Order: sequence, then C-alpha cells, then structure tokens
Amino acid sequence: MKTVFVLNGPNLNMLGKREPSIYGTQTLDGIAGLCRESGRSLGVEVDFRQTNHEGVLVDWIHEAADRAAGIVINAAAYTHTSIALLDAVKAVQPLPVVEVHLSNIHAREPFRHVSMIAPNAVGMICGFGPLGYTLALQALAARL
Ligand code: DQA
Repeated sequence: MKTVFVLNGPNLNMLGKREPSIYGTQTLDGIAGLCRESGRSLGVEVDFRQTNHEGVLVDWIHEAADRAAGIVINAAAYTHTSIALLDAVKAVQPLPVVEVHLSNIHAREPFRHVSMIAPNAVGMICGFGPLGYTLALQALAARL
C-alpha cells in the first residue's frame, strides 16, 4: 500500500482552542482521524505528523522522497515565509505535493496571500476547514 505523508506546521497542535472563529473547533487529533479514515477508503496509508519547527518540516519532506508516494502539507505560517520549504519541495520533485489550509488564506491579511509552496505544488485547497484535508488526499490519491 502506498504511504502519503500529511505534514502540519506550527501552531496547528493548538487547533480546537486556537482562534475557533477562523479555524473551527476540530482538534488536530480529530483531523488525523479523518485523514486515516479517508486514507482507508482511498487505499493509501496516512502518516500524519505535526511540528512547530521549520527544519523538522524540511527533514520530513526529504524523508518523504524515500518513504512516501506523495505529501499533503499544511505548513501554516511557514507557508508564507519559508524559502527552505520552497527549496525542499523542489528538491524532492517529482514527488507530488498538495497544499492545504483550513482557512481561505486569500480572504485574509495580504501577507497570507503568498505561498512559497504553491508554485511547486500539484494544487492547493483552502477555506473548507478539515474537509480540505480529505479533499487533498482524494486529489493526491487520484494522481497516484
Ligand atoms: C493556516 C493559514 C496560515 O496563514 C496560518 O498561519 C496558519 C493556518 C490554515 O490552515 O488556515 O497557521 O495554514
């Protein structure tokens, strides 16, 4: 069975408590459960992870090149700032990467409209809350 890494960046461990009017009340554990369930129905194994550290995300993207068929990533704030993540995603090409955000980053502050990942991603899903993760997995599985 193919493995898909679902990688989560900083502050996403606070979901449930963090700005619920923007991010909703679902916890990250709840989203992990949704992803695993969706992986089962799509026939892929989901390896779900979260870190608050940029370099750890870089390491996991490199690891995916050997151990995964694709990546779903919510890099959170690093999405908008991290040239290291841009380079990491390029370094593992052609490994497919799907970007996801809970909120509609284009309807928020201008600094959130920029993504370092999107230019090298297969696609990006934002604004649909936790459903976005399952949509991203579906899109990635269809591509695999
Ligand atoms: C986020 C959007 C980012 O702008 C923000 O920094 C996050 C979460 C989202 O899922 O909506 O931490 O990636």
